[in-house]
Amino acid sequence: MGKTLHREEIVPRSNLDFDLKGDIPKYWLGGDAFKTRVFDGVQMSFPDGERYFIESVRAYKDQIKDPELLKQVKDFTWQEGQHGKVHTEYNERMKEQGVPVDRFLSVVKKVLNRRIKKLPKKYNIAMTSALEHFTAMMAETFFAKKDVMAQADPRMRAMLAWHAIEEMEHKAVAFDVMQKVAGVGYALRAWTMCHAIFAFTMHTMLVTWYLLKVDGFTGWQRLQMYTKGMAWLFGPGGLYTSLIPSLLTYFKPGFHPWHTKTIHSYGVWLETFEQSGSALEAGEAMYAAAY
Ligand SMILES: [Fe+2]
Ligand SMILES: [Fe+2]
Repeated sequence: MGKTLHREEIVPRSNLDFDLKGDIPKYWLGGDAFKTRVFDGVQMSFPDGERYFIESVRAYKDQIKDPELLKQVKDFTWQEGQHGKVHTEYNERMKEQGVPVDRFLSVVKKVLNRRIKKLPKKYNIAMTSALEHFTAMMAETFFAKKDVMAQADPRMRAMLAWHAIEEMEHKAVAFDVMQKVAGVGYALRAWTMCHAIFAFTMHTMLVTWYLLKVDGFTGWQRLQMYTKGMAWLFGPGGLYTSLIPSLLTYFKPGFHPWHTKTIHSYGVWLETFEQSGSALEAGEAMYAAAY
């Protein structure tokens, strides 16, 4: 007997308003520069990263014969496109704070275009599948419990909540294309997850350092922030440490993203959004429903 599948529907949503142009404080995560810039550093690359995911999946579009999977690819593309739009809007805020976003993103584009995209398309779909598992697990871990988002500005929290629920909805699309269409085997799947974990950790460490430098913190101040911040990121129960168990499930030979049940507060977001039509209210209700 096969395992129970906990599949969610991929809903293409648009024009959600998080009031990102409002008076959100620069250090929106509890006034903490290090914690905020960790999130900001990751978010800054989202529009380019998501374009890369879309391209990697769509490279197989002509080979997909299953109409249901084709529809999922279409809805996945829509959702990631919307994420890119909203995160680009957030990047505008960072520009106003003096962050040279375009200069930074030109480096990201260079790495993507000159290195990653030159790899075989099988590698790119496997890498995308690994990073999609990564984002879905972050989405669940950051919103299952209250502590991570407790001190976040409600508008930022709602924006991340929306992104999180859509990552949960489409978490299996790249994986299914990788397995059913691209025919990627276990070795490449496992290897690309190692690559993804390494790249993600390095990205966090380097970009946060860069952003704090742009913010005017001296090398000594940044070192002190890093010493303290390491426990928050990698200590017991830390932000990244708590991702490890769910990341490891990806290495199980028979793994499929729908084997794990979506977190309980996902349904709360859907229900609140359906009733109120407000992504801000839905985000707050989801946060309130966390443990
Ligand atoms: Fe996304
Ligand atoms: Fe995604």
